Amino acid sequence: MALEQLLNGLMYFERLHIIELQRPAANPAQAPAPEALPSCGARGSGLDTLVADEPTLRRLQREGGWGIDDTKLALLHAGDTCLLSLVDGCIAGYTWVHTGGRPEIMPGLRLQLPAGALYNFAGFTHPDFRGAGLQSYRHQAVWAQLEWAHMGRMLGYVKATNFASRQGQGRSGYRRIGSVALLGSRKRFVAWLSPALRHSGVRRLEGPSGVVDRAWALLQRQAQGAWVGLVSHTLGPWLHSRLRRRSQRSDTHSYTCFHRAPTQLAALTGPVLAHLGLDRVPGGAQGQPLRVLLYACSNGAEAYTWSAWLALQRPDLEVVIEASDLSPELVSQARQGRYTWSELTQGREVPAWLVAQTFDRDGDAYVVNERTRRRVNFSCADIVRDDLRGRYGEADVVVAQNVLFHLPPPLARRAFDNVVRTLAPTAALFIEGMDQDLRVSLTRAQELQPLAWRSREIYDESRRHIPARWWQFHYGAEPWLPFRLAPLRRYGTIFLKGPTSVSLRSQALAT
Ligand SMILES: C[S@@+](CC[C@H](N)C(=O)[O-])C[C@H]1O[C@@H](n2cnc3c(N)ncnc32)[C@H](O)[C@@H]1O
Repeated sequence: MALEQLLNGLMYFERLHIIELQRPAANPAQAPAPEALPSCGARGSGLDTLVADEPTLRRLQREGGWGIDDTKLALLHAGDTCLLSLVDGCIAGYTWVHTGGRPEIMPGLRLQLPAGALYNFAGFTHPDFRGAGLQSYRHQAVWAQLEWAHMGRMLGYVKATNFASRQGQGRSGYRRIGSVALLGSRKRFVAWLSPALRHSGVRRLEGPSGVVDRAWALLQRQAQGAWVGLVSHTLGPWLHSRLRRRSQRSDTHSYTCFHRAPTQLAALTGPVLAHLGLDRVPGGAQGQPLRVLLYACSNGAEAYTWSAWLALQRPDLEVVIEASDLSPELVSQARQGRYTWSELTQGREVPAWLVAQTFDRDGDAYVVNERTRRRVNFSCADIVRDDLRGRYGEADVVVAQNVLFHLPPPLARRAFDNVVRTLAPTAALFIEGMDQDLRVSLTRAQELQPLAWRSREIYDESRRHIPARWWQFHYGAEPWLPFRLAPLRRYGTIFLKGPTSVSLRSQALAT
């Protein structure tokens, strides 16, 4: 230590311990949850991990305080992965993982790792969640990622002089496999790898020029993009059904956002109202109210979006939206109708019309205005167990989106039938976010007709928030695969009940 201080007075000298975590013998499908976690109290409950996408990282960068900068976004583009830990649906921290086997562990020092080794770096836990062991939870969660199932070791580094961090890593199960000594200046240094480190297969990659580096990163990026595309369209469906057979489902996923499905909204006020006889044609059933049952409404974003859109597009139409959710906390939040800017946008662009049409400002908060609120009632309902028809009767439009794929198939089937019983004889069902095989068989059994109108665009929109490697997530959804049977039924998210008009029927014939 004293020698290091003396050397550092004369020149740059640093010693890095290279540490290793071995994959546990029994690979846990789910990492054990740390105890005594604080709650963020916002949405749902529970602990989860999620691979971060670029919009989420950009949102954290805008919020500040998360240590996300342009360098990290460049690493994402270069193929590194950021694994988020969520508590009650809120981001509580992250850890980054490099899988390419050639991490630059500090500027000017790139290592070649042995085959089968991941490199873990840049861990961060939000101050509200520190002390609960989330970092170690994230490290364990890395092993549960199917994509890295063939990787057996995870390497990292810690400065030799950082005793607190060394102790923490030791408690997480890391062991030291060797060290690197750096001598020179911060920009130009000689790196000496200990024999133990060389013996374990780690090498220094001597600095190729910046141009070569960039070209290599670009090539890697292109290759990874092509690889993801190839798996997505070939093995993806098989990997996904294997994952869904094994994965645990949870009814605590509550992600939602305003204006989640804009083209669906256009379908609602276009062909769907036409199907219901509520279009503006002479003789249309003017004066008849539109009744909507909207299940699994989460914090109310979807119901308020529908209310605002209908008020804007069809001010002549009387609208009643009965919205419900399993979670009393979410229902209470929905009733309050009060959102922060980041809850409102979820890091995405929200159209100006929606903000102007829906909200009043109260300080920093966005509060749903009376015009939008008075058409929506909120209550608690369980779509699996409650008698929905006995409770809510029938409606012209029934919405149950992004909930069925969180339920095990037998419960999803039961919930689907329960929801469908609340359709009026002429009605429409909005059902984004459910297992595609189930959608084909259940909608066929119920003699519901898929709406062809802009269905591909609507389906692509419904996949916007799903990571590129969708087959690694139980809620992932395959891209529109042209060779699938009954594509409209498989990928359609809007289904019509009752006699359809000639033009709608001719669209449906394609199924
Ligand atoms: C991912 S959110 C979907 C929110 C919204 N429908 C959307 O598409 O943006 C799923 C919601 O389903 C609710 N949920 C889960 N199981 C349910 C059940 N059995 N009955 C009713 N709601 C349920 C959760 O509480 C959560 O709010």
